[in-house]
Amino acid sequence: MKILITGAAGLVGSHLAQRLARENEVVALTHGDLDITDEAAVRRRVAQAIPELVVNCAVFQVDECEQTPAKARAVNTDGPRHLAEAASDLGATIIQFSTQYAFPGEPVGRAPYTIQDEPRPVNLYGKTKVDGEQAVRHACARSYVIRTSWVFGSGKSTFLCTVADDLCAGKRVRAIDDIWSSTTYVEDLIDRTMEIHAKGRYGVYHVVNAGVCSYYEFALEAGHLRGIARDEVDRLVEVIHERDMQRPAARPRYTPMRCLLTEEIGLPPMRRWHDALAEYVRE
Ligand SMILES: NC(=O)c1ccc[n+]([C@@H]2O[C@H](COP(=O)([O-])OP(=O)(O)OC[C@H]3O[C@@H](n4cnc5c(N)ncnc54)[C@H](OP(=O)(O)O)[C@@H]3O)[C@@H](O)[C@H]2O)c1
Repeated sequence: MKILITGAAGLVGSHLAQRLARENEVVALTHGDLDITDEAAVRRRVAQAIPELVVNCAVFQVDECEQTPAKARAVNTDGPRHLAEAASDLGATIIQFSTQYAFPGEPVGRAPYTIQDEPRPVNLYGKTKVDGEQAVRHACARSYVIRTSWVFGSGKSTFLCTVADDLCAGKRVRAIDDIWSSTTYVEDLIDRTMEIHAKGRYGVYHVVNAGVCSYYEFALEAGHLRGIARDEVDRLVEVIHERDMQRPAARPRYTPMRCLLTEEIGLPPMRRWHDALAEYVRE
């Protein structure tokens, strides 16, 4: 299959490009190769490549969206629309990644979000991503929206990606203990995304590892998996609270997700995040 990937230098895009290139012809376009907000360039590159599948991994990040709303809409809503229109013109399929930030995250302890829950984002990132989902679904009948959450894997310097190594190196880390979500190993996200694509049932999916945690609980588990004594982990991890942080974008507090469509199409449950993290830490 010929696959065109945008945002291919990011966490999801880089892993996806590497994995899919084993069995497919992959055109992996970084931000420098293609700015998805440039409609003419999108049309030109997609028409040149003639892919059967377009996967959009480009995104404008959470706090930055509040600071630059016009860019947030351009990257998270208009860019996906341009890609979906270009894919549709060719008869290709598109996969658009989206986020648990579609949901408000209240009350803490509620049942996991499914596609039957109405999106009600609490920040501009969530709003522009939900608008991007709708734009893609409207523009291309052959579309999948894959909502995921708190993705971890190698190659990015976020808390979830680096906390295990940081603790192992004796570095102090700060971990938030008052927001909770599903978390997702990037390799599991890719496996499940391709399984969904192979089934051919278009729609909106929630792809996350089973279970829910806070960043603090994730850090404790990472330390445990690295064989670090609990009192040493307690010394290295400083507990902080989202409510004190005053970040530009509000964060939904509690956003575990469950996937009704994968249950319907008969795919097995995703493994628990502890098991996925154990594999990441091992590798
Ligand atoms: N990581 C998570 O925890 C998480 C959670 C939920 C959902 N998701 C979703 O998963 C998808 C992939 O996220 P990620 O974590 O891989 O993001 P990422 O690591 O931040 O990568 C995003 C990539 O998009 C590129 N980009 C930004 N603006 C662009 C533009 N106008 N045109 C083309 N490329 C552009 C960035 O390049 P520059 O850096 O050069 O700008 C970056 O390489 C997104 O849809 C995101 O909403 C991720």
